[in-house]
Amino acid sequence: MAYTEHDVVRSELRWTVAVAAFVGILFALTLFAALALHRNPPSNIEPIDPKTLHLSGEFTEPNLGTRVEANGQVTTRIVAAQFAFVPSCIVVPEGQEVTLRLASADVIHGILVSDTNVNTMVVPGYVSQVHTVFRTTGNLLMPCHEFCGLGHSQMLAQVRVVPRDQFRPDAQGRVNCGP
Ligand code: CUA
Repeated sequence: MAYTEHDVVRSELRWTVAVAAFVGILFALTLFAALALHRNPPSNIEPIDPKTLHLSGEFTEPNLGTRVEANGQVTTRIVAAQFAFVPSCIVVPEGQEVTLRLASADVIHGILVSDTNVNTMVVPGYVSQVHTVFRTTGNLLMPCHEFCGLGHSQMLAQVRVVPRDQFRPDAQGRVNCGP
């Protein structure tokens, strides 16, 4: 059977409509994920000098770990360095928004927290920030997931998710794993 020019145009039009609809659906899903589910790529660039981050400012050792800010926001600050996290154990409350802020003192590291949606790279020169809500109590593992050298497989921290009534900040608003 021979195709007329009319058949070809109709076939092309059908494909145009089908592809446009498909792209439209993808675009709508992307907007839905971004606006309704708040799934977004990192939106801010926050530089930090890996050579001096331990000397002053936010990532000095006494300021690491979990702290409840004056407005009630829970923030946990962690330094990633070959081949450990400082601190190696953090405490966070269940069912409440927690902001994790990480900085690398040397090479590229990465973290994930088991059984959660927390997963980010930690690139020297930038602060990595993740907002999350921990839904279950217990001890979760936070391994480094980016090969960072010979000790990479030993680079591991513990995330202790406690019920809100056991999440008791001290006078400075700090919550640590303790002995
Ligand atoms: Cu740090 Cu792998």
